[in-house]
Amino acid sequence: MAAERGLAVATCTAPVNIAVIKYWGKRDTDLILPINSSLSVTLHQDQLKTTTTAAASRDFTEDRLWLNGKEADVGHPRVQACLREVRRLARKRRGGGEDTAALSLSYKIHIASENNFPTAAGLASSAAGYACLVSALARLYGLEEELSEVARRGSGSACRSMFGGFVQWQRGERPDGTDSLALQVAPETHWPELRVLVLVVSGEKKPVGSTVGMQTSVETSPLLKHRAEAVVPERLAQMMRHIQERDFEGFGQLAMRDSNQFHATCLDTFPPIFYLTDLSRQIIALAHRYNTHHGHTKVAYTFDAGPNAVIFALADTVAEFVEVVRRSFPPATNGDQFVRGLPVGSAVLSQELVAAVVTEPVPGAVQYILHTKPGPGPQLVDDPSQHLLGADGLPRSRA
Ligand code: DP6
Repeated sequence: MAAERGLAVATCTAPVNIAVIKYWGKRDTDLILPINSSLSVTLHQDQLKTTTTAAASRDFTEDRLWLNGKEADVGHPRVQACLREVRRLARKRRGGGEDTAALSLSYKIHIASENNFPTAAGLASSAAGYACLVSALARLYGLEEELSEVARRGSGSACRSMFGGFVQWQRGERPDGTDSLALQVAPETHWPELRVLVLVVSGEKKPVGSTVGMQTSVETSPLLKHRAEAVVPERLAQMMRHIQERDFEGFGQLAMRDSNQFHATCLDTFPPIFYLTDLSRQIIALAHRYNTHHGHTKVAYTFDAGPNAVIFALADTVAEFVEVVRRSFPPATNGDQFVRGLPVGSAVLSQELVAAVVTEPVPGAVQYILHTKPGPGPQLVDDPSQHLLGADGLPRSRA
């Protein structure tokens, strides 16, 4: 927390995460308690991150929120739930007594939040957004406790963005949700060769949001019930083992199967929900042809509630697979911007590989590929010039 002329300010950044054992379904929609545990990989903030500044001042007359430079509804129930929980923890910490050095809990708050990636790219931003909101607020009030429980109140998957590397969200048993927490399974340094390719295929909004979609699934899909009760517990233990052992074959196979089962529960929902598109199915088939050609799992796909594909691979596979994607989905324009993020080397494909894997190219179908890797959890931004709110507590004009 930095005090500037009566203004207390804190800025944090937070990452996006991609689940390899999916969360789909709540047993309590108010507290956001899931029907099964889930496990994700936190992606590196050099490529994908949210930055949030929270400020408090005696002079503010109301709570206000700006998202990517535009004023947004601070009264949103999930934003309010996070604010309320952080303030409750701050009050508890002070033991109800008046600590004059501490920031007054009666001051109104201004919050500004920005992504370093286009929202239109359809990359899940609510997890990073709520993890960042909670981190910045916690910093403002000087909280140091477990905060995944608070981030969970913003968006279920946000609790996993409170840690770096490989993260489990434990379902928990208690009705009040106090044991429904995220825990780090392994840090981001654990598997240095692991890479992630996000194939951005669409800027369109999802047909059915995940919050509404998963509730319909809970109400109508017997497959989802079976998945939560009988499939996920074993898969979660298996996935933890594959990660501990850095076993890409096991990790990749299980990630693909779990993504497929999640989308099967969407089809089993009534009326059915379709997140996969023809293009997602072409990417799935391409990954399987590629793995079959090599005789083992070299790439693994996973899809959330949208058509973008997330591909896991080891570093030594990236250049070749990126070339396979480029041949299969030749860029429409600006071919030099097709690969973004971490550098990708060049690769020459053998005739056999092209013949076996590249069938019927679809020009322009993949907009671009973002190359990234596992990364750390939320970070504090010390440099005051990076605050998104100026000394007047209003968003700084953006260049
Ligand atoms: C398919 O966390 O967005 O990405 O808790 O209602 O905010 P709410 O849902 P959200 O759901 C994410 C679903 C998923 C799978 C996952 O991330 O585990």
